[in-house]
Amino acid sequence: MDAVRFDVAAHPGAQAYKLLAGLVVPRPIALVTTVDAQGVVNAAPFSFFNVMGTEPPLAVLAPGDRDDGTPKDTAANLLANGECVIHLCDEPLADQMVACARALPPGVSEVVRERMATRPAERVRPPILSACPVALECRVLDVRMYGENRVVVVEILLAHVRAGIADPETWRVDYAAYAPIGRMNSPDGYVRTRDIFRKDFPRA
Ligand SMILES: Cc1cc2nc3c(=O)[nH]c(=O)nc-3n(C[C@H](O)[C@H](O)[C@H](O)COP(=O)(O)O)c2cc1C
Repeated sequence: MDAVRFDVAAHPGAQAYKLLAGLVVPRPIALVTTVDAQGVVNAAPFSFFNVMGTEPPLAVLAPGDRDDGTPKDTAANLLANGECVIHLCDEPLADQMVACARALPPGVSEVVRERMATRPAERVRPPILSACPVALECRVLDVRMYGENRVVVVEILLAHVRAGIADPETWRVDYAAYAPIGRMNSPDGYVRTRDIFRKDFPRA
């Protein structure tokens, strides 16, 4: 195969981001609610995100710093109180999800600005965004800096799933009822998840 080499280790940051965030796709998008010390609700999307295991149920996300070097509100709130709700979004929520990426000053709520309805979570203080098909109540297990990257590991405590998406008996998900969007290249590329195909899993 003719391959072009990209020395990402020698070109970290913006250069590596263009390539790696463009290649490793689609990425799921976490729309994360957190609260600050005054109880102001913050919501922001993060696509450096995934579920990383299930015993315990685990997710990882990477809320970074603003250009001025201070932690984004999500990161600051997670560091301060260790609680969040991670939402998955479908296509009708795409506009609001993207609007939540607007940099607002600390203390100004994207949820209020976007008129997003909320309801209380059960085990954490940040609220659930009512319109989202999936909401995962989480608490922080670990926050580590790797260079400029802040990796936050959370334990998923409780999942709220819109009726019809997951079978209450088998816990299996029905994709006829669930079509989350994913992220392609930054800043504006997204993908639908309707084009599913199947391959038998290899059995010995
Ligand atoms: C789809 C999408 C994915 C994003 N993923 C990340 C990410 O993984 N890490 C990050 O630091 N910012 C990411 N951003 C940018 C943040 O959402 C943006 O900086 C936001 O203003 C942070 O809000 P906060 O300060 O309220 O936490 C993403 C934006 C979009 C639209």
